[in-house]
Amino acid sequence: MGLVKNSIPFGDASAPFDATLVSSQLAAQPVAWTLHWLPEVSSTQDLVREAALARAAEGWTVVTDWQRQGRGRLGRQWVTVSGRDLLFSVLLRPGRQMLSLLPLLAGIAVAQGLEQGTDLPVDLKWPNDLLIDAKKVAGILLEHGPDEVAALGVGVNVNSGPGELPPQAISAAIALGHPLRREALLVSILKALGAALQRSRSEDRGWVVETWRQRSSMLGSRVSYEQAGVVSAGVAEDLEDDGALRVRLEDGRVTRIYAGDVRLLRD
Ligand code: BTN
Repeated sequence: MGLVKNSIPFGDASAPFDATLVSSQLAAQPVAWTLHWLPEVSSTQDLVREAALARAAEGWTVVTDWQRQGRGRLGRQWVTVSGRDLLFSVLLRPGRQMLSLLPLLAGIAVAQGLEQGTDLPVDLKWPNDLLIDAKKVAGILLEHGPDEVAALGVGVNVNSGPGELPPQAISAAIALGHPLRREALLVSILKALGAALQRSRSEDRGWVVETWRQRSSMLGSRVSYEQAGVVSAGVAEDLEDDGALRVRLEDGRVTRIYAGDVRLLRD
């Protein structure tokens, strides 16, 4: 049974998550995804951390309906209505070479999976926010443990309504005008992620930066960012080979941003 691109009636927007259906669609993939579903957790990231301590293999994945303490990047909270959206974390062992590019690789893979599952164009904002119609549809959180183990957490606004999201966010359902099965999106995202990881192991890592460049509308745009309490503005010129964002400041100097957030200054 094909899972992708299937819409559901509005009344089913919070239908119980069918983890068995997802697992059945993920056989014979480059990463052996092992899916765990729990109705409620503290944060899926915490569970991946515990799984890493128990030496779980790459591909260990946990999905939930609701997080008591969902976290976003830069110490922010990630708050969602129970059962509406896709909240999951996966355990990855990307190897030292790929660690610095993993945020970009993850952004590319989630964007590909979302596009495949929705038919909507998805834009990337450095380092790995995913945008539809210039609004955030998904966020990615990467946390590293010992031995180059990474917990990759993904939150996708799938079926949240306009009143359930901050003004700068959007859900796939809002963009499409109908709700979606979360299972279909998870399958397409994990397939894209597995393919990207496989590519990163067989090719020089340059493809990650090149693919990100091609997928994002951000390069060439005016941006602002804050570092140590100082806000600066300039043009996002390019990505460096190590994934840093190169910004030409208004006074002509060039700076490289390795962490943090940038804001798009669209006219
Ligand atoms: C961001 O854009 O700030 C990143 C948001 C990441 C949210 C996801 S939801 C699943 C996983 N568990 C968490 O606690 N956070 C990530």
